[in-house]
Amino acid sequence: MYRTHTCGELGASHIDQQIVLSGWIAKLRDKGFVVWIDLRDRYGITQLVFDEERTPKDLLEQARNLGRETVLQIKGKVIERASKNPNIPTGAIEVLVNELAILNEALLPPFTIEDESDGGEDLRMKYRYLDIRRNPVKNNLIFRHKVTMEIRKYLSDQGFIEVETPYLIKSTPEGARDFLVPSRMNEGQFYALPQSPQTFKQLLMVGGMDKYFQIVKCFRDEDLRADRQPEFTQIDCEMAFVEQEDILNTFEGLTKYLLKETKGVVVGDFPRMTYDEAMKRYGNDKPDIRFGMEFGELNEVSQHRDFNVFNAAELVVGIAVPGAASYTRKEIDKLIDWVKRPQVGAKGMVYVKCNEDGSYKSSVDKFYGQKDLAKWALATGAQKGDLICVLSGERNSTRSQLSALRMEMAERLGLRKPDEFAPLWVIDFPLLELDEETGHYHAMHHPFTSPKPGQLGLLDSDPGAVRANAYDLVLNGNEIGGGSIRIHDKEIQAIMFKHLGFTPEEAKAQFGFLMDAFQYGAPPHGGIAFGLDRLVAILGGQETIRDFIAFPKNNSGRDVMIDAPATIDQGQLKELHLRLDY
Ligand code: AMO
Repeated sequence: MYRTHTCGELGASHIDQQIVLSGWIAKLRDKGFVVWIDLRDRYGITQLVFDEERTPKDLLEQARNLGRETVLQIKGKVIERASKNPNIPTGAIEVLVNELAILNEALLPPFTIEDESDGGEDLRMKYRYLDIRRNPVKNNLIFRHKVTMEIRKYLSDQGFIEVETPYLIKSTPEGARDFLVPSRMNEGQFYALPQSPQTFKQLLMVGGMDKYFQIVKCFRDEDLRADRQPEFTQIDCEMAFVEQEDILNTFEGLTKYLLKETKGVVVGDFPRMTYDEAMKRYGNDKPDIRFGMEFGELNEVSQHRDFNVFNAAELVVGIAVPGAASYTRKEIDKLIDWVKRPQVGAKGMVYVKCNEDGSYKSSVDKFYGQKDLAKWALATGAQKGDLICVLSGERNSTRSQLSALRMEMAERLGLRKPDEFAPLWVIDFPLLELDEETGHYHAMHHPFTSPKPGQLGLLDSDPGAVRANAYDLVLNGNEIGGGSIRIHDKEIQAIMFKHLGFTPEEAKAQFGFLMDAFQYGAPPHGGIAFGLDRLVAILGGQETIRDFIAFPKNNSGRDVMIDAPATIDQGQLKELHLRLDY
């Protein structure tokens, strides 16, 4: 028997018991006459003690020469600790060791296996199995497990069936590039890994499964960021005979349940905001509503004066940053430099200090009097002591620049509190989005999304104005889920493909199976998919998903531990009918 207990469970009630423990050496302190070892496993840390008085000499010698991370098995007696450690569950006791076996030696780890490690990101990823021994990563993985279990429980209780769909498929368009897999048995042909199980879940609805879910890997070849991985996990769901309202209610229920069960947080009904409103009030389709700083549009109160920058702008818009009127000239200059960085892209920033005495001091005092500035304060909701930051230019880019500034200021002011949860639904997304580069429209969500009833006719006259039965679930400024009511009619689906630039032949070649299925009695249906990695990270109070994934890729899409992707040998290439001399 390797152990009678884990390293996390012994306490005062075990005093005087003979026990067996196994684990890793986390720490060794040698005081000469006494040696303490912290023995670690997944469950915690137990202090072992060896001393001159009670431990045989050779055992004491052996103990003091052990290296960190050695895998040990010990037998010993639980005794009361002289100086107790109230911070850990086993802090009242220690184990006086009388037998020790080295189960495995360990090399010195390349970084410290402690909560605050000295290892940089790359090193930690290369030795991820050591990183997983650290509490922060280990606890994230345990938390992920807990969230996943609760999801399965909730959905199963609601009548959802988990069905697995294949990974070797044909392109499912979700807006990213596909990862492709060459077929050995079918020369010159390739599978695509699913960007999502979208078409399969719709086919499951045609198949009468009624309520489907799957916790499933998805693959997208796209530029990586803190909240994106090339392979990530979705909680993918679909329901038949439902309207948008049914889906929103069901998955609001799931989200509330998860917040309660995993965080002990009870939230009220989720606010709903149309896409247009979100863009107008926050410049963003995934607004963080934990704090204010809502946009105030200033066109009316700032244009038709002598300030040509504003006169020429499509949009003049500002936010009131709480308490920032005290910023020095230097601090404001730095902020202006910040919005002018290429990542943000503003040309400049106008500011107004709202002084405590009720007066205003702005960078455009030459053009605007106190009465004008008072109107700006009213429009942005600025109070005494606030700093109004104003950007101007083309509507969409100005909104996104001001949104970036809003998030930055919230971060600096500590308003993005990780233990506060502010979910909302963003609804009524545009059906189509104009690609500025090609001048073509593409589906904003995906080509299977249904236009709002009665708006099909608009597709020809004003495609950008068509709204969809599409919705996102937003939590603390992150898109954690998105879905839509689907098209279930072959003719309408064909019209959509046509508007997205597919010839009937192309549509048939790529999606003929779905259009065919629609002829055999497709029920009205709709669904949603949550990004599990994002959901877990945000519930865990973070926005970087990497540390909630056991073996993530780095920003270049590499797994630095196993060194993938990698070249393959000629023989393998040949077998796959691949030549690299394109
Ligand atoms: P969508 O493309 O919005 O919808 O994806 C659903 C959710 O998946 C998460 N997500 C990601 N997470 C990590 N890394 C990525 N690269 C990544 N890409 C997406 C996001 C997102 O909200 N088939 C549709 C769903 C549907 O219509 O039912 C779909 O995949 O949190």
